[in-house]
Amino acid sequence: MHRLLGTAILSTIAIATQFVPLLAAVETPSYYRDVRPILQRNCQGCHQPSLKSSGLDVTTFADFAKGGRRGPAFMASDAASLVLKYVKGELQPVMPMGAPPLPKDQIDSIAAWIAAGAKDDTPAEAVDTISAAHPPIYSQPPVIGALAFSPDGQTLAVAGYREILIHKADGSGLVKRLVGQSERLNSLAFSADGKQLIAAGGSPARFGEIQVWDTAAGTLKKSTTLTNDTVFGGSITPDGKTIAVGATDNSVRILETATGKELQKIGNHENWVLCTVFGVDGKRLVSVSKDRAAKLSDVASGGFLENVNLLRGELSAIARKPGKDLVVVGGEERVPYIYMMDRPKVMKIADDTTLVRKLPRQDGNIAALAWSGGAKEKIAVAGLAPQVNIYDPETGTMVAACTGHTAGIYALAFNPAGDRLATAGFDGHVRIYSADTCQLQKDFIPVPLLVSRQ
Ligand code: HEC
Repeated sequence: MHRLLGTAILSTIAIATQFVPLLAAVETPSYYRDVRPILQRNCQGCHQPSLKSSGLDVTTFADFAKGGRRGPAFMASDAASLVLKYVKGELQPVMPMGAPPLPKDQIDSIAAWIAAGAKDDTPAEAVDTISAAHPPIYSQPPVIGALAFSPDGQTLAVAGYREILIHKADGSGLVKRLVGQSERLNSLAFSADGKQLIAAGGSPARFGEIQVWDTAAGTLKKSTTLTNDTVFGGSITPDGKTIAVGATDNSVRILETATGKELQKIGNHENWVLCTVFGVDGKRLVSVSKDRAAKLSDVASGGFLENVNLLRGELSAIARKPGKDLVVVGGEERVPYIYMMDRPKVMKIADDTTLVRKLPRQDGNIAALAWSGGAKEKIAVAGLAPQVNIYDPETGTMVAACTGHTAGIYALAFNPAGDRLATAGFDGHVRIYSADTCQLQKDFIPVPLLVSRQ
């Protein structure tokens, strides 16, 4: 489990401030400024190139204008346009399907834009040219926010820009590219049977998204957009039926994998929730937050059960021991703490009776943690210092230090056998080390780079 810290936050602020003057000005209705964000946030989950519910894709003006099975979604100046009928509930099912209706001001925005002639004012450079047929082109390696090995140990999923790159597990070749709408993917997780890959992320200050991919077919099965910002720290239950994700509205969202339906919105944190992990039986969940708490919740009811830790620094990462309800958490304080999920019977509130062990303090804030399976379990710790340290969870002693990174590391993954560790982060390289010795096995850039024309 792994978190993308500084960069996500910085760019959120940058984009947010950039939008302020635009929002403040009340002018002619604009597709790009007013309508497109509503569609991205509420509609593209189902109406995007790879899903196209009812034949409709709303991700570009041209596709939105083309419409779906019933014809054009709107006609200039036509108050009876199809899209208006659906968002107002004059046609059923009301859109967005399966979610609360749009607020009146958003319906009014779409209506005003159609009334004013439904013009396309998308700047040329902002027209979306990326799709499965036209995957992203990179001039430099992207910041990597997430990595995950498939449960069969054959492939390594790497989060790029607008896509997931599926590589052979030893880094010897690119197998598939899974292109979607989110600019950033902050976490990746395979279901235990390897059939589904979930990705959590979004586009900063616009929308959060959870993608569910069919790994064999390489197709998007489901996309759910939620909140107005990227989401973090997605995890999936061992049976693959339920997903949890953390959000910048301080909530944890629990979704049904098959339908994308929100089952619970847990609101007991006081700041951004950056990572989640389910317990062994999938019935309970621990979430960590910038509010410094690791909280244990009941998945079925969304109810709060316990504070797992004594509050210290902001928390950004959590990983669970394979097959056991023990977690390691870390963040701003730079110290990884191993906690039991369950408080012993003689319980005192807000003490540290659940603490099993502290690992040594790191040189930078912790952004990613991983707990290996295999014969000899290990915990890997990474963050803003360009080095990954591997520890023996039983004794807390250091096993090896993986060097060679040039900047912060946001993503870690052990392979299922526990003998390889993949790392990635700011410098855009993926490095694969031997987990026992930190000997570098492979160092590669996971995206095809534009050949420079100097
Ligand atoms: C959870 C999935 C989902 C979401 C989210 C969603 N839609 Fe739909 N949409 C559908 C499905 C399914 C249909 C087909 C409904 C039917 O025919 O009964 C549809 C049909 C439509 C149609 C008619 C297309 C045609 O030509 O047949 C329009 C227009 C539309 N949606 C607009 C929107 C807008 C606008 C939003 C966001 C405010 C939105 N939808 C959000 C699933 C979704």
